[in-house]
Amino acid sequence: MPDYHDDLRLAHVLADAADAATMERFKALDLKVETKPDMTPVSDADKATEELIRTSLQRTRPRDAVQGEEFGTEGHGPRRWIIDPIDGTKNYVRGVPVWATLIALTDLGENGEQPVVGVVSAPALSRRWWAAKGVGAYTGRSLTKASRIGVSQVSEVRDASFAYSSLHGWEERGMLDGFLDLTRDCWRSRGYGDFWPYMLVAEGAVDMCAEPELSLWDMAANAIIVEEAGGVFTGLDGNPGPHSGNAVASNGLLHESTLNYLNA
Ligand code: IPD
Ligand code: CA
Ligand code: CA
Ligand code: CA
Repeated sequence: MPDYHDDLRLAHVLADAADAATMERFKALDLKVETKPDMTPVSDADKATEELIRTSLQRTRPRDAVQGEEFGTEGHGPRRWIIDPIDGTKNYVRGVPVWATLIALTDLGENGEQPVVGVVSAPALSRRWWAAKGVGAYTGRSLTKASRIGVSQVSEVRDASFAYSSLHGWEERGMLDGFLDLTRDCWRSRGYGDFWPYMLVAEGAVDMCAEPELSLWDMAANAIIVEEAGGVFTGLDGNPGPHSGNAVASNGLLHESTLNYLNA
């Protein structure tokens, strides 16, 4: 298996720069917010943060492709950096501290394109989670100051804590009844928003989570962190990895039951 330690180190450097940029503008009185054609907000901080990550990648990894939420895809090749400069823009622009910069590297292997490095950095929560293929998942501000994390061992829905990001999209997919049944039958259900449910699954604080409408940049970093923490990350159709446009993540023990509820 290729060694991704240098890429993981670089992802931390990129996340450090992103943290400085996003924190400087968080709660700034002159934050410029526009509405995209899909009616979601984007701020000058989202754009500036993606630009600074791209500029750094062009210098340090000129042969790798880059895909970001705000500026699309550049380059091609087996390795692709996937960037969500601010995941949780609606929180960011309203001063809610639940937002993060998501940085992932994917590589083309025997099983197609898979995330091999992921960093989720949430400076307003003073949290960072990260993982690399075969290395495990960790939380901590740097490579050296970190603790290993792992998923929970809860195996019954009635004992399980289920997290979701938002209520949007379940009805349109015909999954609202299954979603509501799951929220009723589990021990606890809460909407934590954006990247957070996946990190809670990875560190064993909740047992499963799901989201019906997502893009690759919302999922790639979360997927490798959940998997390296011992969990399972699939689409709502059960296909592995972050390519389905939606996501179910769990401790593994509850994956099948979660899929069964949502697809009932
Ligand atoms: C959004 C978040 C949210 C999801 C939306 C995304 P953004 O990302 O990931 O949880 O429900 O579909 O667009 O726009 O804040 O990066
Ligand atoms: Ca967005
Ligand atoms: Ca996002
Ligand atoms: Ca975003």
